[in-house]
Formats: sequence, structure tokens, C-alpha cells
Amino acid sequence: MAAKKILNVGLVGYGFMGRAHSNAFHKVSHFFPGDHTLALQAICGRDRAKAEAFAAQWGYRGIETDWRKLVERGDIDVIDIASPNDTHEEIALAAAAAGKMVLCEKPLGRNPGESQRMADAVEKAGVANMVWYNYRRIPAVMLAKQVADEGKLGRVFHYRAKFLQDWTISPDLPQGGAGLWRLDASVAGSGVTGDLLAHCIDTAMWLNGPIAEVCAMTETFVKERKHTLTGEVAPVGIDDASAFLARFTNGSLATFEATRYARGHKALYTLEMNGEHGSVFWDLHDLHRLQYFDHRDEGRVRGWRSIHVTDGDQPYMKNWWVPGLQIGYEHSFVHQVADFLAGLSSGQPAEPTFRAGLATDYVCDAVLRSARSRSWEAVPG
Ligand SMILES: NC(=O)c1ccc[n+]([C@@H]2O[C@H](COP(=O)([O-])OP(=O)(O)OC[C@H]3O[C@@H](n4cnc5c(N)ncnc54)[C@H](O)[C@@H]3O)[C@@H](O)[C@H]2O)c1
Repeated sequence: MAAKKILNVGLVGYGFMGRAHSNAFHKVSHFFPGDHTLALQAICGRDRAKAEAFAAQWGYRGIETDWRKLVERGDIDVIDIASPNDTHEEIALAAAAAGKMVLCEKPLGRNPGESQRMADAVEKAGVANMVWYNYRRIPAVMLAKQVADEGKLGRVFHYRAKFLQDWTISPDLPQGGAGLWRLDASVAGSGVTGDLLAHCIDTAMWLNGPIAEVCAMTETFVKERKHTLTGEVAPVGIDDASAFLARFTNGSLATFEATRYARGHKALYTLEMNGEHGSVFWDLHDLHRLQYFDHRDEGRVRGWRSIHVTDGDQPYMKNWWVPGLQIGYEHSFVHQVADFLAGLSSGQPAEPTFRAGLATDYVCDAVLRSARSRSWEAVPG
């Protein structure tokens, strides 16, 4: 048996995504054995004690407190960017220039200019790259993709997506700093558009093709918040809620909505496609199920099927347990790493590459432009 190629990983950021990615790096070669094995070489965080604690807990060999040092190291093959959005471009450009493979959290940049430079940089350097749009890798969502690609829905008329949360309703919540950088526009780039709708848009374009034009409205319900880093009350620059109509290039119509003000909802991501022959519906709170309706079923027994996506012939599931036993959120990251490594072996890069991630950022930008202009905006490209 040929020896596996070892890929040394350097991770930037030990927060929510740092944990999700580290878990995936550990699990991937057990459940999706391939030509590569990952070695967790170093974790980079600015706080030495926290980085050391994370390294000990997650099995990283060493730490860095400056991502530049991490990127310069000769013993790192893959830089994984799991830090806030304002750091993505600089780290990705440096990593690509140093010849490293680059994995980056979404959204790629804070705006399409940053994302464009990132896509150009990895392509110029010829390094493997991928954006962590992990919802594509939930087996039930992948099954929806198979159903759509096989033409089972027929001509698609409608796409509908929403992503609802409720964690920023209190006006006493500050903005900025650890845990709250998402409320600081200078760090996040935008609010729910780049944070939540970016996921909805990525999945939508993957399932249903490019979006041609959008008409949006956004709102910032709490206009001022104390900034954690300065202690001063400052204007809030992010969109708290964002909703838009869209027309896909295939002629179908869509509605998208995201908010952090839907009391009672913590992470309700749902998507639905309605076609001539059938429909699919998926709900993150019931993520192992795909709802599927086929109008061509015999009338007496026609109805929505609630497919428990756990069988070996359903996406990714043969690598897990026995039929009937479901998996969860964290597995989408394992699948994404598995697909990335399989792409290295096959020469067929795993999607979404930075170039594909850029397409989502163009839609987000058109949404924000439309909300400002109060008119329809075309999506470039
Ligand atoms: N794919 C998804 O579903 C998903 C979910 C959550 C977040 N994200 C994305 O992941 C990224 C990180 O989000 P998070 O929720 O993990 O944030 P987080 O606040 O939990 O963690 C961010 C980490 O980055 C570190 N950091 C900040 N600046 C740094 C720097 N200059 N150098 C090194 N480390 C630095 C912080 O100390 C922290 O450890 C964001 O781009 C976010 O949009 C994606």
C-alpha cells in the first residue's frame, strides 16, 4: 500500500469555526480514508495562553501568535483561515504567495474587491483553495442537489430561503471585540447579508444556477451600540435584517430573508425549491431529513415524503453508521475536508473554490446596493 501523503495544517483562529474545523481534521481520515492524512501542525491565535490551551485540547503540535509567522513556516502545507472577515484577505494573499493551499471561512472577503483579489491570488499561485460553505455537504442538502440535477423537479419556478436568529435584539448588547465582531461593520463587512444570507445564496446558486438580479431591503433596528474596544457608543453599520427578491438566470423567482431579530429562532435555515414535477424542502433544525414531493406519483398515495437521509446509497452516509442512524452539523465540515482531499487526489478541485465563493459575494454586494438604491440591481457576471 502506498504511503499516505501528509499535509501539515496551520489553523488561524480558535473560536467557533476553529473548533469545527479541528474536529473535521481529526475525523476525516478515520471515516473517509484517502491518499492524504492531515497533521495538525500549529494553531495561531493572538493570545498565547489561549492558543496553548487550544493546542493541548485539540492536538496541535505547536502554536504561533502572529499569522505571518505561521504563513512563513516551511513545515506548513495548508493554511486554514477561521478568523474574522477583516483578516481573510491579508492572510489568504500571504499564504498563496508562500505557495500554501488555502482554506478560508465564508464570506471570502468583506466585499467583492477583497474576494476578487483572493480568488486571483490563489489562481496565480496555482494553489488548491476552498471556501467553507459547509451546508452544501449536509447529506439531505446533497440529496436535494442530486434530485434537482437529475431533472426530477422539472422546470424550476421558485426558490425560497430564510435564515433566522434572535441573538442581537437587546439594545444593551455591545458591538465589536471577541464574540461580537459580527456587529462591527469594519470587521464583518456587512451584517446578516454576509453572515447568513451568504450561506443561503451559495446553496441556492449551487442548486439552481446563477442569480441575475435582486431587489432588497435591509434594516438596522438598533442604530447605536457601545463598542467593546473603545467603550464609546458608536453608530451600528451592519444590516440587522435583510430580505430580497431575486431572479435566477434560469427564469425562476426567489425570496430570501435573514435576520437576527426573529424572536424564538436560533438558527432556522430553511430552503425550498418548487418545480413543474416536484418540490424539495429542507430545514436545518431537522437536518437529516429531506422533504420531497413528486407530482408524478400515483394520485391516491401522492404526498410529501419525509426522507430520513441515513442509507448507504444516500450522500456520504456509507462512510458513517448503519442505516437509520443519523449524523449532525459537525459532519458537514468532515465532508468538506474529505471532498477537498479527494479533489487533490483526482485533480478535480472541490467546490466551492475561491472563484465560486466570489460569485456569492457579488450577490451579497448587489443586495446591499439594492437596499441603498431602493431599486433592482444586476449581479455582475
Ligand atoms: N461556515 C459556517 O457555517 C460559519 C459559521 C460561523 C462562522 N463562520 C465564519 O468563520 C469565521 C470565524 O468565525 P467564528 O464564528 O469562528 O468567530 P469567533 O469569534 O468564534 O472566532 C474567531 C477567532 O479568530 C481569532 N482572531 C481574530 N483576529 C485574529 C488574528 N488577527 N490572528 C489570529 N487569530 C485571530 C479570535 O481570537 C478567535 O479565536 C468568520 O469568517 C465567520 O464568518 C462560518
